[in-house]
Amino acid sequence: MRIAIFPGSFDPITLGHVDLIRRGTALCDQLIVAVLVNPDKRAYFTQEERIRMISQAVRDVPGVTVEAFSGLLAEFADMRGASFILRGIRGQMDLIYETDMAWANEQLLSGLETVFLPARPELAPISSSMVRQIAAFGGDISPFVPASAVDEITHRFYNGERKAIKGGIPDAEK
Ligand code: PNS
Repeated sequence: MRIAIFPGSFDPITLGHVDLIRRGTALCDQLIVAVLVNPDKRAYFTQEERIRMISQAVRDVPGVTVEAFSGLLAEFADMRGASFILRGIRGQMDLIYETDMAWANEQLLSGLETVFLPARPELAPISSSMVRQIAAFGGDISPFVPASAVDEITHRFYNGERKAIKGGIPDAEK
């Protein structure tokens, strides 16, 4: 049984994450989506909210489980008997950071490989922080997050009227 771990903050989950989860399942028998719960790192969504939004978004994908983890990723991977860690690469900046992290994890647990999947070009610009920012200003986040999570994320960040900026910036704001 080949187990892989797809770790992240998922604060919140994006369509880029969902695509990587789908593609990652082709590489293993079980993909564990591991949600970082770090008391030092402030998250906008609770552990339960993040896990629920991920689970809903990938409910039709076989071979996926969603779990919280804290502490070292290498320790969690060891406990779960994982063969490798899966990470997405959105561009050159990601590659530099992720390569360092991959080797740190290999130092912590010998033989623990990290597999990088390139983000699809149309999904590469998407990040959780970008989604939070668009939502905070009342923008439409539906092109960036799973349909099942749009309302929850929108309402968390913005209570006012939605701005009609789909497809362009309104004249008044140009
Ligand atoms: O979605 P993110 O925030 O890019 O995910 C980062 C994550 C969770 C993969 C990374 O911060 C992590 O693995 N944290 C746990 C602590 C750890 O093991 N760090 C790696 C050794 S430097």
